[in-house]
Amino acid sequence: MPKMLITNIKGLVGVHTKEKRSLRGSEMANLPVLENAWLLLEDGLIKDFGLMSEIPSQILDLRSQISVNDRFVFPSWCDSHTHIVFAAPREEEFVMKIKGKTYEEIAAAGGGILNSASKLALATEDELFESACLRLADMIKQGTGAVEIKSGYGLTLESELKMLRVIKRLKAAFPIPIKATLLAAHAYPAQFKNNHQAYIDLIINEMLPAVAEEKLADYIDVFCEKGFFSVNETDEILSAAAKYGLKPKIHANQLSVSGGVQIGIKHDAISVDHLEETDEGVLNSLSQCETIATLLPSCSFYLGIPFANARGLINANAKVALASDFNPGSTPSGNMNFVVSLACIKLKMLHEEAINAATLNGAAAMEISHQIGSIAIGKKANLFITKPMPSLAFLPYSFGQTQIETVILNGEIYNG
Ligand code: NIG
Ligand code: FE
Repeated sequence: MPKMLITNIKGLVGVHTKEKRSLRGSEMANLPVLENAWLLLEDGLIKDFGLMSEIPSQILDLRSQISVNDRFVFPSWCDSHTHIVFAAPREEEFVMKIKGKTYEEIAAAGGGILNSASKLALATEDELFESACLRLADMIKQGTGAVEIKSGYGLTLESELKMLRVIKRLKAAFPIPIKATLLAAHAYPAQFKNNHQAYIDLIINEMLPAVAEEKLADYIDVFCEKGFFSVNETDEILSAAAKYGLKPKIHANQLSVSGGVQIGIKHDAISVDHLEETDEGVLNSLSQCETIATLLPSCSFYLGIPFANARGLINANAKVALASDFNPGSTPSGNMNFVVSLACIKLKMLHEEAINAATLNGAAAMEISHQIGSIAIGKKANLFITKPMPSLAFLPYSFGQTQIETVILNGEIYNG
């Protein structure tokens, strides 16, 4: 029975009871931290924890013991929205952006999602797997201990399956929970520009059955946005996916108040993501429902689009999660430490709210908050130990730097 005892922890962060599966509204400011604590890991799980002043003597006898004076222990970041399988970065678009082009203008000039799709069509499954492995290993070193990954740069049956098979291989290769999402409805391929229904039919009649047959996806996503998929088109795709048991996690309200939030809620979406554009109607519709509002502040930062109204959502009693949106076009970063900093600095989230949003609520946005996302007995021992820090708020305060010294996955130190 491999055991590890961590002692003299300055702050054991996120000690929620195991029954707490997600947090909404004012609950999000409650981040229980145990000061001067110990934590025992056994068989990959959190076995027990408590105050140093009350540590049982038989536990102290354990051989595998690390004393971490002045350091905090966090549950791993749970990054519930990424697109980390792609063939090539798009830094040429970055330069266009510096020169003043908008995201929409870059897409219209042959960049954007279709640019990634033509590159992906040429890449082999092995190449995609290898580059995604490097990205994921980097994210893990930055504290991520669970992740959702989308397809959506395939846009043909063959290439969407290729992407999802890569995600399946990542699931087998990495010691963290990974969820796969079918995002065939990410953009209309050029040949379907004037015949949307034909592409929707391809998704419904060919992609969904093939993906279900190979059990390649856990969720369905649609980019519900002006110039991409309309509310009615989204409705049709989500209804078809429901027949295969795929619940929605959708892109909504990134560039406009698109109606995506309401159509997601109508289909009991696990989460509606982005929400850079909201109005009272959006806040009201998220105020009591189970659907999580997942905010992606690194995308706003990179594209220069508005930051989501996190305060309005929290005041409206919504459940808010934070994720990276790591992708080559709108967010070339999977650093959740930076996401948490931006949430504090730009979304005016309290650091306790931001940490809860990036851990427990992120786990809930992948339906795994019963097994990860907080420090509770029986949960998966996916954690990180910080460098020495004066206080909890120091982590988001020191933006752009990673205050992580040691990553633990399944109760063991991860060296990548
Ligand atoms: O979440 N908005 C849609 N999809 C991605 C960006 C895709 C891309 O530009 O490659 C996002 O921001
Ligand atoms: Fe995205």
